[in-house]
Amino acid sequence: MQKIRFPQGFTWGVAASAYQIEGAWNEDGKGPCIWDTFCHMPGKIVNGETGDVAIDHYHRYKEDVALIAGMDLPAYRFSIAWSRVMPEGSGTVNQKGLDFYDRLVDELLKRKIEPYACLYHFDLPQALQDRGGWPERQTAQAFADYARIVSERLSDRVRTIITHNEPWVTAAAGYFSGEHAPGIKDPVATFKAMHHLLLSHGLAAEAIRASAKKPVKVGIVLNLNPIHPLTDSKRDRDAARRMDTVLNRSILEPLLLGTTPVQEFAIGKMLSSSLIKPGDMEKIRTLDFLGVNYYCRTVAKFDPKFPVVAAAQVHPEGNEYSGMWEIYPEGLYEILMRVWNDYLRKVPQAPILMVTENGVPVPDGLDFDGRVRDERRIRYLRNHLYQVWRAIQDGALVQGYFHWSFMDNFEWALGYGQRFGLVYVDFQTMKRTVKDSGRWFAEAVRDNGFALEGG
Ligand code: FCB
Repeated sequence: MQKIRFPQGFTWGVAASAYQIEGAWNEDGKGPCIWDTFCHMPGKIVNGETGDVAIDHYHRYKEDVALIAGMDLPAYRFSIAWSRVMPEGSGTVNQKGLDFYDRLVDELLKRKIEPYACLYHFDLPQALQDRGGWPERQTAQAFADYARIVSERLSDRVRTIITHNEPWVTAAAGYFSGEHAPGIKDPVATFKAMHHLLLSHGLAAEAIRASAKKPVKVGIVLNLNPIHPLTDSKRDRDAARRMDTVLNRSILEPLLLGTTPVQEFAIGKMLSSSLIKPGDMEKIRTLDFLGVNYYCRTVAKFDPKFPVVAAAQVHPEGNEYSGMWEIYPEGLYEILMRVWNDYLRKVPQAPILMVTENGVPVPDGLDFDGRVRDERRIRYLRNHLYQVWRAIQDGALVQGYFHWSFMDNFEWALGYGQRFGLVYVDFQTMKRTVKDSGRWFAEAVRDNGFALEGG
């Protein structure tokens, strides 16, 4: 049986985000965020579910940190709810909100767990959305002010601050498809949002570095997908190329090369000159840390019905699927190699590269004896971690892996039906139970590797 080992010092962790786990949506001075508003609108979320209580992490954070420690996991990636810290998004600071993250960080450090704090995971303060949200340039400035406030409070203890989680999803799901809050469907607003999200990363990076009490790494987390054409026809290959430009290049290139390919599209060409101000691209190009979230590949075919890309995603028969996406482990290898070879190898000071999310929803539950036998997730972990290891063997300097998610939680528009956790949560009693996959992962972390088959 072949055993694989990860490099010494490889960072292992689990990830979560504020709205998906905290609950306490209007406690201790927290202002409403766009997800509070969206979930309270009829018909937006499966079964009308909300994150009002979520899995009550706000009140149970000590128990949750103890669970992470019990699994010997060395790192935890969480997000900070902007509207907890600044109920109106700008202006007044809510000390009680900041205090929560202060306590969380102390609790993590007490148990020797490295905190990776993310400033934005889809939850814009509603007050800023009321003033236009991400399509407005002033939102980027407000974000930088918020970043400074968090940095002043936490940077003596937090060594990695992530500005955004998946800005592409923030823009595309929030302003294009409307599946996520704030539920807008407007291609122009989407392009504007995308640029201001990137700009806000640059402005926040500046603000964090200027106010940090100790050296801090500033990074971003991106959802990246390898794109495969459905057939070898020129039409499908071109469709896949356009999709790649929109999904991957339009975000990687500003951050890493200081250029943008959006002019390749008529709408991008039309908007760029008024949207991108002198100096913006220089500000955006700054990264000490790059996180890759990987869930699936995209199989694309030519389809003129779709605006901008004239391409559609298809789900070929015979592939393996989960409740949300195709399961395609090789894609993780492909995307890591691509990021490494096409970008990081070419920049003078390559940012630290880690996998910051990867996981699968499994409709699991408690067996008669209280155990959760989620074999599918164990297989998923083994197959995906193997691809990370392969990428490292082939020269990509991948320095860490965070599994999504630590605990079952609120999966956005899909509500509580999609269980991603290594820890099972009974959504009625809030009881937490480590799944078999959690035990498997903890073992792999302890060993810094695992046996490829069996075990
Ligand atoms: C990612 C999000 C995360 C979670 C997973 C399944 O796009 O960052 O919050 O919903 O998908």
